[in-house]
Formats: sequence, structure tokens, C-alpha cells
Amino acid sequence: MSSHDKEKIPSHLAIIMDGNGRWAKRRGLPRVEGHRVGMEKIKDMVDICRKKGVKVLTLYAFSKQNWNRPRREVDFLMRRFEDYLDREGENLVKENIRFRVIGRIEELPLSLRKKIEKTMKMTEKNEGFFLNLAINYGGQEEIVDAVRKLSMMVKEGKISPQDIEVDLFKKYLYTEDLPYPDLLIRTGGELRISNFLLFQIAYTEFWFTPVFWPDFNEQHLDEALRDFSRRERRFGAIKGE
Ligand code: IPE
Ligand code: IPE
Ligand code: MG
Repeated sequence: MSSHDKEKIPSHLAIIMDGNGRWAKRRGLPRVEGHRVGMEKIKDMVDICRKKGVKVLTLYAFSKQNWNRPRREVDFLMRRFEDYLDREGENLVKENIRFRVIGRIEELPLSLRKKIEKTMKMTEKNEGFFLNLAINYGGQEEIVDAVRKLSMMVKEGKISPQDIEVDLFKKYLYTEDLPYPDLLIRTGGELRISNFLLFQIAYTEFWFTPVFWPDFNEQHLDEALRDFSRRERRFGAIKGE
């Protein structure tokens, strides 16, 4: 890889991990089998991203709207999240990874919540890599939550409405001080955002692939990264001026 290509690695990569259910159905398996395999892919993807020089990885695992699925599927997913934390907690500490769950954590089952809080606390000093897992996440809800926090501060006289600007607002999102995503990948073939990172993706580059999440591998990621490295990001300015 040339140094030029290296400069163009996204610092922050976001992935909508979609297509687990269809992956399983194609194989004549129950949908939840797709979730099992999908959750097991997370560790690999973290390792691959670290190796490539990505600094922040944000993965969409469960949306606020995903509660509208059958109870059995939702329960299965909640257990898989707990398994992930049991399995990976110590590793995240050892590998200097700062782990965060973004979403309304307070609405999750108690045992999962406790594990999330424990893992976030254990890794809070880590700075080698940043892994955000979006669980019970909604982009609209995230914006509403930021508005609530800021309006409380106005009410308490800590800030005035004029202080609310984009840079201040950003700090009250779940992603706090992290940079915005440079590249967003959606697997599974759908061409939509499904309530993911609505505020943060203002200038994010998009990559959609029909590959189902359980099949998504390093070669597929390389294809997306190669395409990203060739794009010219202008942020509304004019090139060369
Ligand atoms: C993504 O896979 C994982 C979650 C939304 C929890 P899906 O379960 O949405 O799989 P498809 O899109 O139905 O194939
Ligand atoms: C988005 O996928 C959420 C996750 C991948 C976690 P969905 O499968 O829920 O999105 P829709 O329903 O196709 O928009
Ligand atoms: Mg889906």
C-alpha cells in the first residue's frame, strides 16, 4: 500500500451489520442462527480494522425499532450481547480498546446493562482503539436526548440558547468527543440508513454492498476501503482554492 493510500484510511468506520436473517433463511436455518454467526464476526472485524489503521469502529447491532421483532428473536439477541461481553471483556482491556455502547442503555435488561457498564468502566482509560456498539440505538432518539440535556442546561442557567451551536451540540451526542464517521458501510443490500447516526453522517461517504453481514470478510472490506481512498471529499468547498 502506498503512503498516499494510507492517508486515506477512514479514521472512523461505521457499519450497519444487516442481513443476518436472510443469510440464515438462505441456508434453511432459523433467523437467529444468522445473529449467532453475525455476533461472532465482531471480534474479527475489530482485529482487521485495527490492523488497517482505523481508529474508531461503530457497529449497529440493534436499533430502537428492532424491539418490534418477535420476542424470541429479541431475547436471543440480548443474550448474544451478554455472551460477547463475557467473552471479550478482558480482551478489550488487554488490547487497549475503549468500549462503549451507544443507545438508550437504561432501557436494556438489567443483567446486560450491568455487563455493559462494567465493560465500559474497565476500558474507560484505553486509547488504542475505540469500539462503539450501537444497541437500542436510534439516531432520532440520540438527537432528542441531546436536546433534552441541553435544554436542561439552559433551564439551569448554565448556558444560553445562543451557545447551542453544532460543535457544542455534537458533544451531547452518545459519540461525544469522537470524530464523525468518514465511511459508512451497509451490508445486506438495503439502500437506507434505518435511523443510524443521523447527525454524525452529514459528510460521511457511503458504501452499500449486497453481501450479508455473516459473509462480510476482509476482502469485502478492502473493496470498500479502496473505493473510499479514491474519493474526493470536498465538505462543500471547491478543490484547489
Ligand atoms: C441485522 O440483521 C441485525 C439486526 C437488525 C438485529 P437482520 O436481522 O435485520 O437481517 P435481515 O435484514 O432480516 O436479513
Ligand atoms: C438496521 O437494520 C439495524 C441493524 C442492522 C442493527 P434493520 O434490518 O433493522 O433495518 P430495516 O428494517 O431493514 O430498515
Ligand atoms: Mg435487516
